[in-house]
Amino acid sequence: MTEDAVTASWGHASPCTWSILVHGGAGDIAAERLPLHIAGCERAAAAGAAVLAAGGSALDAVQRAVEVLEDDPSFNAGTGACLNADGAIELDASIMDGTTLTAGGVCALPPFKNPIAIARRVMIRSRHVLLAGDGAVRFALAEGFERADPESMITELARTRLEAVRAKDAAENKSGGTVGAVARDASGRVAAATSTGGMVNKLAGRVGDSPIVGAGTYADDTTAACSTTGHGEAMMRVCLAKTTTDATRTTSAETAARVSLAMMHERTQGVGGAIIAGRDGSLGLARTTRTMSWAAVTNDGTRASGA
Ligand code: GLY
Repeated sequence: MTEDAVTASWGHASPCTWSILVHGGAGDIAAERLPLHIAGCERAAAAGAAVLAAGGSALDAVQRAVEVLEDDPSFNAGTGACLNADGAIELDASIMDGTTLTAGGVCALPPFKNPIAIARRVMIRSRHVLLAGDGAVRFALAEGFERADPESMITELARTRLEAVRAKDAAENKSGGTVGAVARDASGRVAAATSTGGMVNKLAGRVGDSPIVGAGTYADDTTAACSTTGHGEAMMRVCLAKTTTDATRTTSAETAARVSLAMMHERTQGVGGAIIAGRDGSLGLARTTRTMSWAAVTNDGTRASGA
C-alpha cells in the first residue's frame, strides 16, 4: 500500500503526562478562512488543556474542547452547522471513555447548542450508546437540555453553501468543519469526542461517521484515542477510528494516522483526516484532503497548530 494519498501529517512522538489535540475538520477551506479555523482550534485546545492542567479527566477535556468548537460559527458543528436538503440543521456527535469503553452519541438531532454534552449524558445516564432523531430530543429534554431556536444556529455562510451545493445537485463536506478532540490525562486515561453537522445538502435523516463508535470516534486506554473527519460514508466502511487506534499497537500515532487514511483512500477513494492521542500521551495526525485545521497542547510545553 502506498501512502501517496496522504497530503500532510504531524506528530509529537515523546510520551507526555497529559496532552490534547483538536481538529476543525478535513476539507478544502479557502485560504482567507484558514486563520479563523486555526485560531478556533487553538482556543479549543487551550480550553481542554486547562482542564488537564488542573488535574481533570481526558473525558472532561475533550468535551470542553468540542463545546468551544461547537460554539464557534466557523465550524460545521453546533452553531454554524451545515444545512441538509430541507434547509435544516441535523447534528451528529459522540464521545468515548478509553478506561471503561463506555460511549454515548446522538444523531440526526435537531438544533441543540451543544450536542456533545447530550452525547456525554447518553453515555452516563441511558442504557444505550446512540440515540437518534425524536428519541434523542425526548431524552435531551428529559435531561434538562433546551432546544435551540434554529435561527440562532444557522449562519449566512451555511445558507450560501447550501445554495451552491444544491446548484451542483450534489451533497458534500469539502467545506470541512467537523470538529473533534483527543486527550490523555495525568492518570493515563484517554478519551475522544467528535461533533458535526454532516454534509451540505445531505438527505434528511442521513447519519455520518461522527456519532458511530469505531468510525468517527474511538478510545481505549490500551491503545489510543482517535477522532476522524471527512467523507463519513467511507469512514464507516473501514471503521476508521478503531482501525487507527489498533494500528498504534505497532507504530507511532502519526504513522498510524497516515497508514489508516492511505488504506481508506485505496479501498474506498474516500478522503479525510484523523487525530490521535496515544496511551503514552504522544500525538499524531494526518490528512488526505487539502486542509485540516488543528491545534495541540502538552504538559511539556508544546503548543502547535496548523491546517
Ligand atoms: N465526517 C462527517 C460526516 O461525513 O458526516
